[in-house]
Amino acid sequence: MEILNIKNLKKVYGKKVISTALKDISFSIEDGEFVGIMGPSGSGKTTLLNLISTIDKPTAGSITLKGKNILKLKGDDLALFRRKELGFVFQDFNLLNTLTIGENIILPLTLDNVDINEQERRLEKVSKILRIKELLNKRTYEVSGGQAQRTAIGRALINNPTLVLADEPTGNLDSASAKDVMEHLEKINKEEKVTTMMVTHDPLAASYCNRILFIKDGQIYNEIYKGDNRVQFYQEIIDVLSLLGGTK
Ligand SMILES: Nc1ncnc2c1ncn2[C@@H]1O[C@H](COP(=O)(O)OP(=O)(O)OP(=O)(O)O)[C@@H](O)[C@H]1O
Ligand SMILES: [Mg+2]
Repeated sequence: MEILNIKNLKKVYGKKVISTALKDISFSIEDGEFVGIMGPSGSGKTTLLNLISTIDKPTAGSITLKGKNILKLKGDDLALFRRKELGFVFQDFNLLNTLTIGENIILPLTLDNVDINEQERRLEKVSKILRIKELLNKRTYEVSGGQAQRTAIGRALINNPTLVLADEPTGNLDSASAKDVMEHLEKINKEEKVTTMMVTHDPLAASYCNRILFIKDGQIYNEIYKGDNRVQFYQEIIDVLSLLGGTK
């Protein structure tokens, strides 16, 4: 089943001085996919994420999630859509330092007044999957970068979103923590069937996806699928990036 559909998406910034961030992008994401978005700096990756997350509006084109036109949403419906349908993971974790790890994870449920027993049940489930059960009472400054990102992933998953959007989730991590975070994202995608779209510059992180869309100058440049071998996929990603003209 198709989860996300993007058709002829265009984004132009500015009025006097015009900058075309996205020229004409069309693609779709199926239920259960783990899609990576790669491309040089300035190619339009963050713009694309911002349009899907409804932070910004496109100049032209359409975006539907589960068949619903998300560009028509306004006010409370828009806020509800972001909270219920989407999960966000950021490069810098975006955790609240005044809260514990556990409180950070259940924050979206607290905001929605979800029943306390239900909050506990879901917290137990995600903290088990993400191996952070022992950390729930700690503060954000008492955990490692990888643990902080796993916490952020827990928060993104707690509402059972339709789509998880991640922008450079390994960008602030050392290579061991990056690998650890990617193994967890892969596991969540495979075992919990969480549909995920991730922007990354890192070919190793990208090799955990099952498909990569490469963007160049605001257009789709290429698309590759993983077979059953991650190491071979990694090599294919490196090859496309070298044709594209570097990762940054
Ligand atoms: N708010 C804005 N106003 C004007 N131009 C913008 C704005 N945001 C982005 N742009 C321009 O749109 C283009 C795409 O930017 P975008 O941030 O989407 O690139 P990116 O692929 O995410 O790059 P990076 O890999 O560096 O994060 C760039 O030319 C950028 O300068
Ligand atoms: Mg960006």
